[in-house]
Amino acid sequence: MERTTESPRLGGRRILLGITGSIAAYKAAVLCRLLKSAGAEVRVVMTPLAKQFITPLTMATLSKNPILVEFFDPENGAWNSHVSLGEWADCCLIAPATANTLAKMAAGVADNLLLTTYLSARCPVAVAPAMDLDMYAHPATQQNLRTLAERGVRIVEPAEGELASGLTGKGRMAEPDTIAAFVGELLSEKKKSLQGKRFVVTAGATIEPIDPVRFISNHSSGKMGYAIAGELARRGAQVTLVSGRTALPVPEGVDRVDVLSAQEMFEAAAEAFERADGGVMCAAVADYTPVAAADRKLRKGDGELTIALRRTRDIAAELGARKGRRLLVGFALETHDEVAHAEEKLARKNFDFIVLNSLRDAGAGFRGDTNKVSLIDRTGREELPLLSKTEVAARIADRIEALLAPEA
Ligand code: CTP
Repeated sequence: MERTTESPRLGGRRILLGITGSIAAYKAAVLCRLLKSAGAEVRVVMTPLAKQFITPLTMATLSKNPILVEFFDPENGAWNSHVSLGEWADCCLIAPATANTLAKMAAGVADNLLLTTYLSARCPVAVAPAMDLDMYAHPATQQNLRTLAERGVRIVEPAEGELASGLTGKGRMAEPDTIAAFVGELLSEKKKSLQGKRFVVTAGATIEPIDPVRFISNHSSGKMGYAIAGELARRGAQVTLVSGRTALPVPEGVDRVDVLSAQEMFEAAAEAFERADGGVMCAAVADYTPVAAADRKLRKGDGELTIALRRTRDIAAELGARKGRRLLVGFALETHDEVAHAEEKLARKNFDFIVLNSLRDAGAGFRGDTNKVSLIDRTGREELPLLSKTEVAARIADRIEALLAPEA
């Protein structure tokens, strides 16, 4: 077993970068790069005027995400949901923020995608004002900044210096490194909802050796389990990720234990579960393993080859049997009679809830970045729409939080 831990400063944090129509928009390119290299995921929303100052192509290339400007894509009518953007973000950063945008934010005007996103965001919001010194000093602007600050918006003070107008004074947007550091501090202040909780998450496929070169395994990519481990860690939990073989990077703040076989996964998961508040059994564990792995490469013969297999230990069922007051979440990947099978596994393995995905749903299951799942417990079934695996992970973490809440 090998342990790996990693923790870049903004790793895994989701930053919605809003850009408005100011000459300082050129600095947003450097800012975006700094946020990305600190490990953040960045999505950029531009006001229509911002496009005059910096091209969407530049920002899309740097953020590695398409740029959002309009409420919908004029090419195909796809809707850019300000509500889901607001929910997605851990921090909404508007840099540069013009006097006009600050005034609209203060007044609650909602006439572009950035403003509607701001109004629906539940995360911390920071603005980096950029304007001419007289506009900045104007009582209207100062009043707007006070109003925003009273409502919890954090302001990255502009600097004094030469302005685009040729004048010198206060109004120049803070430098990108100052803004990036500000965001880092802002996010570390955020209260973590799962602080102090410990989880074990199993993920990926196990590998059962037949001989030194061959093995039995399956198509699991591990993405879903990694997304859950990352999400729980983002909420402050201590997470041990017991992982089968995968090329995925270790999510920030997660302690990964690499294993190969179902037996190794059982040992690592059982050990971590002893000290945990809960477990999420996301791995695709081989149900059978060769009775004995050959210690030398098997040579082919003329006839058929039969390999005797025996059952592996059911990690989830064993942890379920000894879980006591701890929480246990399972997964079921089904091809038919989905709900009935999932309900049977929920009961048999003593899960608190089970996440069902059907291979019959487009966009669900192995390898992809999306998943379509239902969450099933003893009281009923919640069917979620097709979501990214990161969003599915957030929904699962929400449920875990609700179950761990003292009144639950
Ligand atoms: N699981 C486990 N250990 C195993 C097998 C499965 O922890 N040896 C867990 C999976 O991580 C998942 C759930 O159990 O949370 C899946 O249940 P299972 O009945 O094993 O699913 P299948 O292998 O698809 O079972 P079946 O062949 O009965 O459909």
